[in-house]
Amino acid sequence: MQKLFTIGILGCGTIGSEVASLLLSNKLPELKLKKVLIKDKNKKRAIPSEYLTDNPNDILEDPEIDLIIELMGIEQPALEYILKGLQNKKHLVTANKELIAKHGLKIFEIASQNKVQVRLDATVGGGIPIINTLLDSLKANRISSVVGILNGTTNYILTKMKKGQDFASALKKAQDKGYAEPDPTNDVDGIDAKYKISILASLAFRTYISPEKVQCCGIRSISAADFSFAKELDFSIKLLGIAHRFEDNKIAISVHPCLIPLSQPLAQIDGVLNAIQVRGNLIQELLLVGPGAGPKPTSSALLGDALAVMRQETLYNLMPYEAKPLVFSQDGESRFYLRLTVKDQIGVIRDLGGILAQNEISLESIAQKTHQEEKPLEEIGEATLVMLTHQVKENTFQKALQQISEMAQVKRIDCSLKVFE
Ligand SMILES: NC(=O)c1ccc[n+]([C@@H]2O[C@H](COP(=O)([O-])OP(=O)(O)OC[C@H]3O[C@@H](n4cnc5c(N)ncnc54)[C@H](OP(=O)(O)O)[C@@H]3O)[C@@H](O)[C@H]2O)c1
Repeated sequence: MQKLFTIGILGCGTIGSEVASLLLSNKLPELKLKKVLIKDKNKKRAIPSEYLTDNPNDILEDPEIDLIIELMGIEQPALEYILKGLQNKKHLVTANKELIAKHGLKIFEIASQNKVQVRLDATVGGGIPIINTLLDSLKANRISSVVGILNGTTNYILTKMKKGQDFASALKKAQDKGYAEPDPTNDVDGIDAKYKISILASLAFRTYISPEKVQCCGIRSISAADFSFAKELDFSIKLLGIAHRFEDNKIAISVHPCLIPLSQPLAQIDGVLNAIQVRGNLIQELLLVGPGAGPKPTSSALLGDALAVMRQETLYNLMPYEAKPLVFSQDGESRFYLRLTVKDQIGVIRDLGGILAQNEISLESIAQKTHQEEKPLEEIGEATLVMLTHQVKENTFQKALQQISEMAQVKRIDCSLKVFE
């Protein structure tokens, strides 16, 4: 008879209670739930009380427990608990992206010393099997880039804005539907996506990349007007995590909103869906699309990982990446979109053109705009300029942008976005 694999769960929130219920339903009879750690003893739970404990040692020190599924979603005491679990020779499956992004090296090191596995497919992309694809299926490739729509909440908000809503009402709608937290900072400022792209880049490039190295910008500066201007130019706007490894092994890693040509599949990924595009020397290009969150898709990743640990089907390299010296680059080239508010005066475009010419930046298009839903700008002596550059080095564009912002006729830079192609 096959040995039962015994599981302890840390955390009984949205995902923890779903995973516990699935285990108790006995649909995966080889996996047996023993205990679930809770914090608040007064909360009503769907899990029978004999499975609940508020003492972490009931799981961490129980010799019968083979595997811990960590679903607390916080940094501490989750880190302390899982390190103790690993030291007690318990395998780990986790959905905690912050923990893996910040402390992955240490966690893998301790796991490796104790000859237990750490699996993390649920940390990025919910039900999309991107981590296991990078670690197993694409192992033979030299990966040059990983690019993703990694946060369903911001993708939902941007999809609503594409249809004409402003940021505040799109955010409110996301909160009403339960997609966004009451404090949406982690999602809208790109922090959640920053953790995820640092995990993907570390695994793809086999070298630890701290989330602190990710240049990060959220979606607060995007307006519905940008969507309508982008559409006129045949683009959509998405918040992308982008990790690129150049031929010389320099790395560029960032999270920021980008224009994407409507002809690109990533431009068509709307609503709460996530999508991750991988480019490698053998595979060329691969796009994985699916539900990036939610109890069932996330449980699919977690329980798939638990079964893989149990069956030892594909034992991970216990250290999937190392800490190596890295050189980061900001030399990449792209086209740039720029929206700025200027004084409605003769000579503004001439002076702007002078700065661009001085920096050897040529324009693909430039237009003076008014937007129907905004105040008629000409009434208050202002105009909106929207432009799209040809390919230019990022450093050069940033230098020109600084000079433009210092022009007396420029009231403000409203939005500047890279084009992802
Ligand atoms: N929700 C999703 O769709 C989704 C998708 C992918 C990945 N994830 C990841 O999955 C993890 C869990 O997310 P979630 O949405 O389930 O979060 P959640 O609903 O906030 O649940 C977290 C649970 O952790 C428990 N907890 C916190 N501190 C604790 C402590 N000191 N001791 C014991 N328990 C403690 C809380 O217990 P009490 O109930 O007792 O307060 C809470 O129920 C996170 O890392 C998240 O990033 C979530």
